Amino acid sequence: MVKVAVLGYGTIGSGVVEVLVTNKETVTRNAGTDVEVKYVLDLRDFPGDPVESILVHDYQTIIDDPEIDIIVEVMGGTHPAYEYVKEALERGKNVCTSNKALVADYGPELVKLAKEKSVNFLFEASVGGGIPIIRPILRSLTVDTFYEITGILNGTTNYILTKMYDEGGSFEDALKEAQKLGYAEADPSADVDGFDAARKIAILSGLMYGKNLNFEDLSIEGIRHITKADMDYAKFLGKKIKLLGITYNIAGEIYTEVAPHMIGPDNKLYLVDDVKNGIELKGNLLGDTMFYGAGAGKLPTASAVVSDIIDEAKHLHTNIPIIWSDEPVKLAERGRHRSKFFIRVDRDCDDIKNQFEIEQLVTLPDYPDEYAVVTTEMTFADFYEKIGDKEHVRSIVQVK
Ligand code: HSE
Repeated sequence: MVKVAVLGYGTIGSGVVEVLVTNKETVTRNAGTDVEVKYVLDLRDFPGDPVESILVHDYQTIIDDPEIDIIVEVMGGTHPAYEYVKEALERGKNVCTSNKALVADYGPELVKLAKEKSVNFLFEASVGGGIPIIRPILRSLTVDTFYEITGILNGTTNYILTKMYDEGGSFEDALKEAQKLGYAEADPSADVDGFDAARKIAILSGLMYGKNLNFEDLSIEGIRHITKADMDYAKFLGKKIKLLGITYNIAGEIYTEVAPHMIGPDNKLYLVDDVKNGIELKGNLLGDTMFYGAGAGKLPTASAVVSDIIDEAKHLHTNIPIIWSDEPVKLAERGRHRSKFFIRVDRDCDDIKNQFEIEQLVTLPDYPDEYAVVTTEMTFADFYEKIGDKEHVRSIVQVK
């Protein structure tokens, strides 16, 4: 019998308790032992809830209990999650978490501490929700040299962009709908401004390179500025707009960013719609591999957390090695990165037509006072030099 404590009884925490009850037989078979939730930690009370009798309000009860082998951190936020997790590892307890903020900020340090203490710090649910992506990178695809990961890593923005594409509405209307359905928070910034996706691609990049990438060092562009007009042009061009987290390594030059991109049906992520996530890995032997599924949500995310509990139950006092040092990833200058660009501009401004090498020029009857171009591939440095002060430019979106 392995006893666990769940820190936080919100959406994911209650999902973890539910999964351990509803799939008890499968969990026991795969863990090789029963898994029992001995405590749930939360500041709130839950009268009448099945966890009422195991609810505690102080962490000390949990950390001081020698019967607790695994701590499941699903509180979210970095503090006090970091302090709780650190103390648990220091005291020889295994930890698993769905908390991408914690993993993005402290991953290498907590992985190292777990190794020193011969326990585990696992975080499958921190990227891609229920999609297995961390374990495949760390433990399955261990032979390939990966040179690119590109992902739709945020379900909320994917829902908003899909809705704008399907229904022709504005960003604001789609956001309101996402909030009504509970996908987007009242303050939607972490999702729509790209920070959530940035933390996730920073974690994946860190694991891909075995080094640490601070998400704040990335170029991060969200989707607030994407308009109905941008989407109409994208449709006309046979493309969709998707918020992509990208990291790639070309001859030792590493580039990582989060930004909306126009992508066509030739791109494997084109069909990843609604709240779904998709992640494409490119390796030198395996070629392209695609992971697709529920990137968020109570039960999918809880299922990933419980997969970590099972792994830890089988390795209670044996560290499963994770190569993730705190040495910083050295990023190439952004100006050296290459892309095609979609540019919408005032109809009476000829500069864009004349200054850029153009692949396509588009005018749409619904937008008589403007035109748009898709440039050929160029470096960001060239692009910014040519675009100048952007006075007549209405919109810029990268094109894949
Ligand atoms: N806000 C996140 C999303 C939740 O929309 O993808 C899962 O990390």
